[in-house]
Amino acid sequence: MRAVIAPEPGGPDALTVVEVDDPEPGPGEVLVRVAATAVNRADTLQRQGHYRPPPGASEVLGLECSGTVAALGEGVTGWSVGDEVCALLSGGGYAELVAVPAGQLMPVPDDLDLVQAGSLPEVACTVWSNVFMIAGLQPGERLLVHGGAGGIGTFAIQLAHALGATVFTTAGSAEKLAVCADLGADVTINYREQDFVEVLGEAGGADVILDNMGAKYLPRNVDALATEGRLVVIGLQGGTKGELDLGKLLRKRAAVIATALRARPTAEKAAIAAAVAEHVWPLVADGRVRPVVHTAMPLDRAPEAHRLMEESGHVGKIVLTTGALGAAS
Ligand SMILES: NC(=O)c1ccc[n+]([C@@H]2O[C@H](COP(=O)([O-])OP(=O)(O)OC[C@H]3O[C@@H](n4cnc5c(N)ncnc54)[C@H](OP(=O)(O)O)[C@@H]3O)[C@@H](O)[C@H]2O)c1
Repeated sequence: MRAVIAPEPGGPDALTVVEVDDPEPGPGEVLVRVAATAVNRADTLQRQGHYRPPPGASEVLGLECSGTVAALGEGVTGWSVGDEVCALLSGGGYAELVAVPAGQLMPVPDDLDLVQAGSLPEVACTVWSNVFMIAGLQPGERLLVHGGAGGIGTFAIQLAHALGATVFTTAGSAEKLAVCADLGADVTINYREQDFVEVLGEAGGADVILDNMGAKYLPRNVDALATEGRLVVIGLQGGTKGELDLGKLLRKRAAVIATALRARPTAEKAAIAAAVAEHVWPLVADGRVRPVVHTAMPLDRAPEAHRLMEESGHVGKIVLTTGALGAAS
């Protein structure tokens, strides 16, 4: 099969299409014929040599996909050859075939095509697990989403809005903030011109913050938290080492949590995928949460797709297609 790897660490042009052996589904795994995958920041870090795949994961890039079931490994029940699916992966999505633990498969939400479905697993699982399962966002609470126009941000805004939270978001341009407002953000903050701590302070503080910046925003995120607020750090675009004022946390009875989805055990990923299919897919199927696909391009244009993400020239997700889209596209 064809797959995309980065044989040597480097810039976007390090990505190379190669012929590799077809993966075989092991016990409990399903072989998926990939129709679409999508670009994640972790892929750009992996390409640069800064983020090794977890032990046992494929060297082929790609943390999510959509497609059709091509074969079932020993002991798999509940799925049939030919089913349309999408999946959370530990790697291997930039390819024509991928073997995935059955628990990480999800059905394609009603009325979505496979390009749209390929854009969803990573954002849906990340946002549901962090904002709702871990931080426990409640209806009526205030959520601050940093990087609101990105893949994670566009999904988090819609999901939190649909579930009754008041959503604040940051982005770097008026155009991106307008998109965020259209998706349901109640308050938009241009981080180049405004101080999000001041905006949140006037509103009573953030009950939950979903943060992509890490160290750069750590002190100000703590300042922006409400009493009993929960800061969930999922990205380190602003560095890994910052200073944390424990006195401020203590007075606010607040929490700082950092998580990475990729390294979680298979059983935890399966629990997240099942929760997403149960709680999130109905909102997608009824149109209250929609996939935001900036563009879809063939897999062999992966270098261009990575460049686009690194320049932040996109809104929502950048999808890569394998050419196996069939009638569903
Ligand atoms: N921990 C996990 O399990 C997990 C899973 C998935 C993703 N992530 C992380 O989540 C983050 C978002 O992922 P993604 O796929 O949504 O990436 P993305 O689409 O590239 O979105 C990142 C966004 O950050 C914005 N941004 C850049 N500097 C900013 C700043 N100073 N303040 C606020 N926003 C800023 C960018 O656009 P503008 O600056 O133009 O507004 C961009 O829209 C990444 O760091 C990724 O690694 C973590």
